[in-house]
Amino acid sequence: MEKGEEKTLFLPSQEVVNQANVKEYDQLYLYSLDQPEAFWAEQAEQLSWYKKWDKVLDKSDPPFFKWFEGAKTNIILNAIDRHQSSATRNKLAVIWEGEPGDSRTYSYHALNREVSQFANILKSMGVKKGDVVTIYMPQIPEQLFAMLACAKIGAAHSVVYGGFSHEALADRINDANSRVVITADGGYRRGKVVEMKSVVNKAMELSPTMEICITVKRTGIDVYMENDRDYWYHDLKSLPIASSKCETEVMDSSDMLFLLYTSGSTGKPKALVHTHGGYSVYTASTHKMVFDIKPEDRYWCAADPGWITGHSYIVYGPLINGSTIMLYEGAPNHPYPDRWWKMVEKYGINILYTSPTAIRGLMRFGDSWPNRNDISSLRLLGSVGEPINAEAWNWFHKVVGRGKCPIMDTWWQTETGGFVIAPLPITPLKPGSATKPFFGNDLAVVDDAGKEVPNGEEGTLVIKTPWPGMAKSVFNDPQRFIETYWEKYKKQGWYHTGDSAKKDEDGYFWIIGRNDDVIKVSGYRLGSAEIEGVMARHPAIAESAAIALPHNLKGNAIHITAVLRSNYKPSKELEHELMVHMEEHLGKIARPEAIQFADVLPKTRSGKIMRRLLKSRALGLPDGDLSTMEE
Ligand code: WT7
Repeated sequence: MEKGEEKTLFLPSQEVVNQANVKEYDQLYLYSLDQPEAFWAEQAEQLSWYKKWDKVLDKSDPPFFKWFEGAKTNIILNAIDRHQSSATRNKLAVIWEGEPGDSRTYSYHALNREVSQFANILKSMGVKKGDVVTIYMPQIPEQLFAMLACAKIGAAHSVVYGGFSHEALADRINDANSRVVITADGGYRRGKVVEMKSVVNKAMELSPTMEICITVKRTGIDVYMENDRDYWYHDLKSLPIASSKCETEVMDSSDMLFLLYTSGSTGKPKALVHTHGGYSVYTASTHKMVFDIKPEDRYWCAADPGWITGHSYIVYGPLINGSTIMLYEGAPNHPYPDRWWKMVEKYGINILYTSPTAIRGLMRFGDSWPNRNDISSLRLLGSVGEPINAEAWNWFHKVVGRGKCPIMDTWWQTETGGFVIAPLPITPLKPGSATKPFFGNDLAVVDDAGKEVPNGEEGTLVIKTPWPGMAKSVFNDPQRFIETYWEKYKKQGWYHTGDSAKKDEDGYFWIIGRNDDVIKVSGYRLGSAEIEGVMARHPAIAESAAIALPHNLKGNAIHITAVLRSNYKPSKELEHELMVHMEEHLGKIARPEAIQFADVLPKTRSGKIMRRLLKSRALGLPDGDLSTMEE
C-alpha cells in the first residue's frame, strides 16, 4: 500500500446497505464480546441439532476449548438433510463445469442421493466412525460427494491438494493412518490431463496402512488397477450396496469432522482437526453475514476444495446456508482469459470469492476480457489468502465489480476455520485492509511481551478469546498444538496467529505477512523447513535455506540459498535440476524462483539459520541485529 492510500474510504452504496443481512456492526460487535456465549447460542439456534448443548463453551481445559458441549449433531444434518423438505429439495445445490466445457448440476435432492450412495460404498469398504479417509482428487462433483459422504458416516476426511507429489501425499496418508484413499484417474488443467491415480499408486507403495483405493473415472486415461485393492467408483455405484438411502451418523459436537494438513515454521506439515458442531455454526454465520447470502444467490468461491477456503466456503458454510454453489475444474484462462467471466455470465453468478494471485493473474490480460461479457449479475466480491495490493484491489473493484460491488477482504487461517477479520457489506472499505474483527473475536496487535503496540505500529496479531470455528487440536499431537499456537502468550491465554499486523486509528487491521518461517506462494502455504527438507534429499545438497521474496504475480516466491557437497560445482544445469527435484518431490507450487549457491549459510551461535539476514540482504535492507551470529 502506498503512503496516504489508507485514507481512501469506499463507502457502500445505499442499495447494498438497504438489502444487507446485518445492518449495524458496532453494537452487535460489542454485544458479541460482552456476552459471547449468548451471541453464539443465538447463532447456533438457527441450525438444526439432534440434541442441543448443555453448555455453549467449555473452557475447563485450555487451549482445548469445547463448543456446544453435550450437543448431538452432524454437519450433514445442516448441509444436506434439513434441505430435503419439499420447499427446498429442488433448489440447485451444485453447478459444476469441467474444463473441457462439460457441465453437471445437482439439486439438494440429487446431492442427498449422491452423498448417500457414496456413504454406503464407504461403509461397505469397512469405513467406520472415527476413521480417516484420504481424498486426492481433481475439482469434480465427486470430490464434494466424497467429503460429504465421510462426514455423513462420521469418518474424518483428509483432503490432500491435487498438486502435491506422491511423497507429500504418502506423508499425509501415513501421518493420518489412513486405510482408504479416494481419487480419480486424472483431471483437466490447461487443456491437458493431469494424472492422479498414478500418483496415488506410487504413494500407496510408500504407505503401509493403505488398503483400498476408490477411483472415479474422469478422463478415461489408462491407469494401473490392482485386484482387491483398486475399485472403480462407477462399478461400486452400480452394486446393490450403493443404495441412495443412508442414515446420517449422530455425532458429538466436538467429534472430528476433518483433518487438514498445513505447513508451519518447523518440521513436517501438521493436521489441524476441525469438529462438527462449532465449525458448522462458525462457517454458516460468517458466510451468511459477510457474503450477505440470499436464498436466490448463486455463489462462487473459486478456490480449490483441497484447502481450508474450499472446505469452509465452497462446501460447508454455503451448503449449510442452502446456497447454490458453483464449482469449476480448471484454469481461469483456458482456453481464453475470459473463461471465468463467461461462466459468471452463463450461470448468473452473484458473489465471486477468490485470491489476490488469481486477480493479478487475470488483470494482466487487460480490461477487455471481462468487458466483453455481461458480468452485471455480480453483487459482491471477496478476496483471501494474502494481503491484496492496491492495484489488484482497484482493478477488481472497478473492472470486475464495475465500481458497485464491495470487496470482502477476509483474513483467516486453516487453524481458525472461518473468517476472523472481515468487513460486512455495510463496512466502509480501505483497500488492502481486511477491516475489522468478525463478531465474537477480540483481537490485538502486541509486542513480544504481550503489550499492545500503539496504533499504526507493527506487532504480532493475537486472538484473545475462543471462537467456535477454531481447530480442536493437531491430529495425534496435542503438544504441538500447544507449542505452536499457545506457548508464546501462555500467560495471557491468547492464540498466536504467526502474522504481523498493524491497527490504525479507526480500528482497521492491516496484515503485513507472516512473522515466522511460513512462505505464502500464490496464497499457498509452505514451510521453510519443509522445503529445505526436500532440498536435502538431493545428493548435491549439503544444506539450504528457503526464504520468501516479493513477486509481482505470486505475492511471494521461494528463493533458496544452497550449500553444495564438496564434489559438486554450481551451474545453471544443477540449478535447473534442483528446481525439477522440488517440483517432483513436493509439488509444482514448491518450485523455487531462484537458487543461489553459497559456501556457508549465516547461522546463530546456537546453529539456527538466519533466514531474516538472507532476506534483508536480498532486499538490500540493513542487516539488523547480528549479535547472535556465529563468527
Ligand atoms: C495465512 C493463513 C484462510 C484461507 C486461506 C489461507 C494469510 C489469509 C489473508 C488476507 C492478508 C491473509 C495470513 C494467514 N492470509 N488471508 N485476507 N489478508 N493475509 O489459509 O493457508 O492457513 O494461510 O494466510 O498470513 O496467516 P492458510
